[in-house]
Amino acid sequence: MKTLQDRFARRFTYLRLSLTESCNFRCDYCLPDGPDCSSRKHEITVPEIRRLVTAFAKLGTTKIRLTGGEPCLRRDLTEVIETCKSVPGIEKVAITTNGYRLQRDLPDWKAAGVDAINVSIDSLDPSTFHLITGQNKLEQIIEGIDQAVAMDFAKVKVNTVLLRQYNGGELPQFLDFIKQRNVALRFIELMRTSDNVAYYNKHHFSGENIKQRLLAEGWSQQQRANNDGPAQEFSHPDYAGQMGLIMPYSRDFCDDCNRLRVSSRGQLFLCLFTEKHQDIRDYLQSDDPEPLMQALQNNVLFKEATHGLHDGNSGATRNLAMIGG
Ligand code: GTP
Ligand code: 5AD
Ligand code: SF4
Repeated sequence: MKTLQDRFARRFTYLRLSLTESCNFRCDYCLPDGPDCSSRKHEITVPEIRRLVTAFAKLGTTKIRLTGGEPCLRRDLTEVIETCKSVPGIEKVAITTNGYRLQRDLPDWKAAGVDAINVSIDSLDPSTFHLITGQNKLEQIIEGIDQAVAMDFAKVKVNTVLLRQYNGGELPQFLDFIKQRNVALRFIELMRTSDNVAYYNKHHFSGENIKQRLLAEGWSQQQRANNDGPAQEFSHPDYAGQMGLIMPYSRDFCDDCNRLRVSSRGQLFLCLFTEKHQDIRDYLQSDDPEPLMQALQNNVLFKEATHGLHDGNSGATRNLAMIGG
């Protein structure tokens, strides 16, 4: 079978597909000014998605994560899910969402074939949550998460971006949150983008200190399996949930990168931290997967060993909504 493999013997079995740059939240580290409003008419269509996913699957991709922006702003999301799920070789379809319509959407998503859901919650304090996101939906989002856990999706994951002056002191509240809830909570180090440099300087802090606190409080670090995502994971016998840390600024972060990204405009990004991309939209106009497969195999050879943040790369990506985080 043909595969997608780079110069460092990393294999790519996981595609993160952004469905839209639009979002109905305004998380202030991500989209303070919002995307360019013309972007919606450039969004990749369902037939294009089918051709894209078919070519990736023929090259060994087994998992698709739908991201954005906010994926549920796409009216045809159910059709997108069904399309991804129906492609031979695709075993897992996952969604990353801000969760604002979770309770309403979960039954449809489940029926369409979604296997796993990641939801963002940056603070458990309703007023801080509002300050960060511009929304008052914390309570409904938590209810949606509980509903997802009860519906037996694969492990529900919750993302919290670490922000010094907002949630830097909320570790006890978050630990309490997972005491009885079987979810995987992940603290994510704030990433610098070209849109958030001043914000990054004010709020970024390393997750290392939290890691040391967890270890000191009886949490044990899990062994990483092949194809695990970017999080270091921890468990504790007294907690139903798990803790995770996503620390992209640590040196070996990229060693087992297993993912490629396609933006909602049909651009292939080899890394989250690069503006360089290849427009693959033309390949999505034909039902013959071979030219796209060839282009993907050629492109992946240009993937760098690491994001280069330690060697002067500043993280030029405009914001993560553009390529779906
Ligand atoms: P799964 O393993 O599929 O659950 O994915 P995930 O945890 O990577 O997905 P999610 O969409 O929830 O992303 C969580 C955070 O990890 C986001 O802030 C992403 O931007 C970040 N992230 C995911 N993949 C990468 C990566 O390859 N590099 C970097 N630097 N960050 C990543
Ligand atoms: N740094 C870290 N995480 C970010 N996200 C968006 N922008 C950033 C950033 N600059 C997160 C969202 C969501 C995930 C997909 O990406 O909060 O949890
Ligand atoms: Fe992969 Fe780039 Fe993320 Fe590193 S930063 S893990 S190379 S996508």
